[in-house]
Amino acid sequence: MFYKTNLVGYVTLLCDSLRVEGDIKDYFKHKNILYKTLPAIKIGRLAVDNNFQRQGFGKRLVHIAYAYAKEVSNNYCGCRFLILDAKRNKDKEKDSLHFYKKMNFKVLKERVKGTTPMYFDLMYN
Ligand SMILES: CC(C)(COP(=O)(O)OP(=O)(O)OC[C@H]1O[C@@H](n2cnc3c(N)ncnc32)[C@H](O)[C@@H]1OP(=O)(O)O)[C@@H](O)C(=O)NCCC(=O)NCCS
Repeated sequence: MFYKTNLVGYVTLLCDSLRVEGDIKDYFKHKNILYKTLPAIKIGRLAVDNNFQRQGFGKRLVHIAYAYAKEVSNNYCGCRFLILDAKRNKDKEKDSLHFYKKMNFKVLKERVKGTTPMYFDLMYN
């Protein structure tokens, strides 16, 4: 993503799947859907230049990723989720988990260190 002549951020997407576990496992079990994985598009890398953070660019990059995933899911092939592994940081201001929660992603599995897997259900959003 460019703002004027500056490269301010980027996002990469890849094909992946969501491991059905935790709360989401119970949700699908209730519906008699017993697959171990479900199709997903993953946000592989997403970052905004330090000098341009907190100006709405990260939110725009998530919206772009969402628009691609929704387009694929609606028109081309089955894809239920947009997923990612949120990079954790002890400093709340730098902990991307809180950013993604604001973007309505849900935690798939709680983890404090490293990364935390998160998902966004494309069917109901
Ligand atoms: C996480 C990151 C992408 C956020 O980008 P950004 O451009 O600063 O975010 P935005 O300005 O679009 O913020 C959107 C909203 O999230 C909030 N937000 C951003 N970072 C946050 C944080 N760490 N904790 C809580 N809220 C946060 C903003 O305040 C804003 O809220 P609002 O809509 O109520 O005003 C950016 O900080 C970054 O690149 N970090 C380093 C790399 C990284 O961690 N990438 C994610 C790896 S998975």
